[in-house]
Amino acid sequence: MTVPTPTPEDKFSFGLWTVAYAGRDPFGEPTRADMDPVYALEKLASLGAYGVNFHDDDLIPFGTDEAPRQQIIDRWKKGLADTGLVVTTATTNLFSQPIFKDGGFTSNDRDVRRYAIKKVMRNVDLAAELGAKVYVAWGGREGAESGAAKDVQAALSRYKEAFDVLGEFVTDRGYDLRFALEPKPNEPRGDILLPTIGHALAFIDELERPELVGLNPEIGHEEMAGLNAAHGYAQALWHDKLFHIDLNGQTGPRYDQDFRFGAGNVRGAFWVVDTLLAGGYDGPVHFDFKTPRTEDDEGVWVAAQACMTNYLVLREKALAFRADPEVQEALEAARLPELATPTLADGEGWADLESAATPDVEALGARGAGFERLDQLALEHLYGVR
Ligand code: GCO
Ligand code: MN
Ligand code: MN
Repeated sequence: MTVPTPTPEDKFSFGLWTVAYAGRDPFGEPTRADMDPVYALEKLASLGAYGVNFHDDDLIPFGTDEAPRQQIIDRWKKGLADTGLVVTTATTNLFSQPIFKDGGFTSNDRDVRRYAIKKVMRNVDLAAELGAKVYVAWGGREGAESGAAKDVQAALSRYKEAFDVLGEFVTDRGYDLRFALEPKPNEPRGDILLPTIGHALAFIDELERPELVGLNPEIGHEEMAGLNAAHGYAQALWHDKLFHIDLNGQTGPRYDQDFRFGAGNVRGAFWVVDTLLAGGYDGPVHFDFKTPRTEDDEGVWVAAQACMTNYLVLREKALAFRADPEVQEALEAARLPELATPTLADGEGWADLESAATPDVEALGARGAGFERLDQLALEHLYGVR
């Protein structure tokens, strides 16, 4: 296998904040210069990317007046037209400014909540104008560090209120735009609300317009919670809620490492790609990574390109795994087709099970599952010996 080359048909997209991450962390100052957003577009396009995603404040510095804001937008639009990059998604920064220290939509302070919704609406207008189809909502500051500081039930009511208002807003404006919630267990808050895919799915069911809200799960966030990211993506697909994806790398439950996709838990990444392919996910393949602060500008583009290379490598391997006749045989032996068969036959009900003959329980208990053979075949594909 040669090193694959990404093309716009692969639909790779990047957050502007990912490549522009200058290396600030809780312990140190930035190690790289601020990046011009149009330079980011040019570099991404030259590497074969398809799209871009941005927070309002990534593009337009917080507090910019109306006239310079418009100049920035016009220059951005020209950059998009010149490079052919698509705005796939947009999002709001409700976490950097001091006003959001206790969150945006769920701050205890009502004035902050009202301002947060207004800030989102303003950028939703821009997102719609630029053709984005998904609006990501990561509530990194919606949470708490201590028990009494947050009435979680009241906060969830305010969270719901915000999405109900925003759902009404996009409907009234006639925008073809849906929201994607991004769960994360912690960081920057000690505990974040809607910490996992499961919490977020249950929350969506309580909204006035649940059809407008889905998920943007991130590999690293699931793994920080000790969860299996591929299983999370599969469940989001099962609920028809996988509106967008944040791919990156993580090594177990620790701080949000945001490694380039394919670094970190490689085996987990393989199953994420396999799950996305099997589930027919056809949205943008979006990366949310941070280049370590040890690297210079050249290193940033090495890492960005690597995200796409690693996805293409894993895609080829996952497809080869599924197409391998030996794997198909092993899947059969492991009874995967049988799991797709309903437990009850057509027309059967509980009474048929009640009256069914008891099977040979001992023989069933002694039957091997064949999963080790199957998994070893997957590893051999991943390790490149098949
Ligand atoms: C994080 C998150 C963010 C979001 C982004 C888009 O852990 O910092 O992953 O990068 O994805 O704010 O909403
Ligand atoms: Mn993250
Ligand atoms: Mn993310």
